[in-house]
Order: sequence, then C-alpha cells, then structure tokens
Amino acid sequence: MQNKPYIVKESAGTKAYCACHKSRTMPHCDGAHKGTDIRPCVVDIPEAKTVAVCGCGKTRTAPYCDGAHSR
Ligand code: FES
Repeated sequence: MQNKPYIVKESAGTKAYCACHKSRTMPHCDGAHKGTDIRPCVVDIPEAKTVAVCGCGKTRTAPYCDGAHSR
C-alpha cells in the first residue's frame, strides 16, 4: 500500500487489480490472495489508457483513485 495512486499505462484488455494488498506486483494481482476470501477487482479496459489505481485502500470507486488518500 501507499498513500498515493499507482499511475499505470494499461493496454486494452481485462485487468485484475489487487484488493488484498499482498501482491508483489502492485497494483496488479499476482495470486497472493489465495487462501483468503479476498478476490481481485477485475475490470475491462476497452482501449489503451493511463489509469490511477487506488494505493491507499480508501477509495469508494475501486479500483480507481477517488482522491480519498488526500482527505
Ligand atoms: S494478490 Fe491481492 S487480490 Fe490477488
């Protein structure tokens, strides 16, 4: 976790973002959630773009940053 978003240039396609905060490839899921009830946040990105993925765990628009880290 970090107190700012992860800024990631994504290609088009289905992405799985970590929700357990144990991934070693943040913000992407690396399977570290296995054995827990937590599942990654899976989203479809229709075209390549830069995204801001929540790094603080407080967003209300998961998996994307909503500025909650600065409030
Ligand atoms: S590694 Fe965290 S949700 Fe998969």
